[in-house]
Amino acid sequence: MSVIRSAITGTGAYLPEQVVTNADLAELVETTDEWIRERTGIRRRHKARDDQPTSDLAVEAARRALEAAGRTADEVDLIVVATTTPDMTFPATASIVQRKLGAGVGIAFDVQAVCSGFVYALSVADGFVARGLSKCALVIGAEEMTRLMDWTDRSTCVLFGDGAGAVVLEPREGQGTKADTGMLGFALRCDGTKTDLLYVDGGPATTGTVGHLRMAGNQVFRHAVINIAEAVTAAAEAAGIEVSEVDWFVPHQANQRIIKGVGDRLGLDEDKVILTVADHANTSAASIPLALDVALRDGRIKPGDLVLMEAMGGGLTWGACAIRM
Ligand code: UT7
Repeated sequence: MSVIRSAITGTGAYLPEQVVTNADLAELVETTDEWIRERTGIRRRHKARDDQPTSDLAVEAARRALEAAGRTADEVDLIVVATTTPDMTFPATASIVQRKLGAGVGIAFDVQAVCSGFVYALSVADGFVARGLSKCALVIGAEEMTRLMDWTDRSTCVLFGDGAGAVVLEPREGQGTKADTGMLGFALRCDGTKTDLLYVDGGPATTGTVGHLRMAGNQVFRHAVINIAEAVTAAAEAAGIEVSEVDWFVPHQANQRIIKGVGDRLGLDEDKVILTVADHANTSAASIPLALDVALRDGRIKPGDLVLMEAMGGGLTWGACAIRM
């Protein structure tokens, strides 16, 4: 049976120039490079300039993704930006990205699922592409998590960073089998009873302020390891594949110990896991497309490879998707 799949035809990434090391943070709060590395795997993170909004990071990543796909901005008919740190309350950052990119009138909106945002956004865009409503879509994860930090809270401010990653999605005809190129299956989850484990204590309709990120790290950690593994299994089932067939795992980069815990539960080969958390820290919705771009450009992920992405974040949201490159 002939089906239309949405395929990733190009990726791009952008990290702001300023690098903040663990040693830099040890001057701000009572922490050490050793503690941060041992508990999280993080060594450094990037930080946007004050005059560099999220849309600027998104546009740079999008330009690189379009170039890799051999497409131009005027061909883009759908832009979905996954972000928790929009330039403004409205318009959507996707609208601003459309203007800055010089893309024509089309569909553009943001998806807010925090660290799971990219997996959510990819699944949403897949619906448009697979239904023939988009011929050239940009799915972007772009975040400036450093804007949400309480720089006196050592339990959170050492964990996050800024960055953006983008993919171009285009329709490809398939046979409706797991050998097809493109999105094969996904599983998305949200448990709204756990909003108090990870949230920002501000917003336009409550405090009227931006607020700061608050997290019960330890409980989020436990939830992540258990539930991500379930979503990965469900996404693999939706795709008609076994987890053992996957060539590469591109996990959300929050904590190396979470990634290892999920891998152990699933019986994954560590050599198949793409890790960027040491250099990027947790860039929320940007972390998966950033990691994907690194592994495609360094030649580890190749055309035809089966890739499984997974994430978990505020909401609590979590999810996974399987894509053949
Ligand atoms: O993107 C998805 C959302 N986020 C996550 O997935 C993050 C999930 N959570 C985590 O990654 C981990 O829970 C953390 C890295 C946040 C914390 O690691 P942990 O092993 O769970 O440590 P803990 O929270 O149990 O804290 C252990 C100790 C505490 O001291 P006491 O109470 O045992 O004396 C903390 O106060 O470590 C202390 N601590 C620190 N010490 C030095 C917390 N933060 C720091 C710090 N430096 N930066």
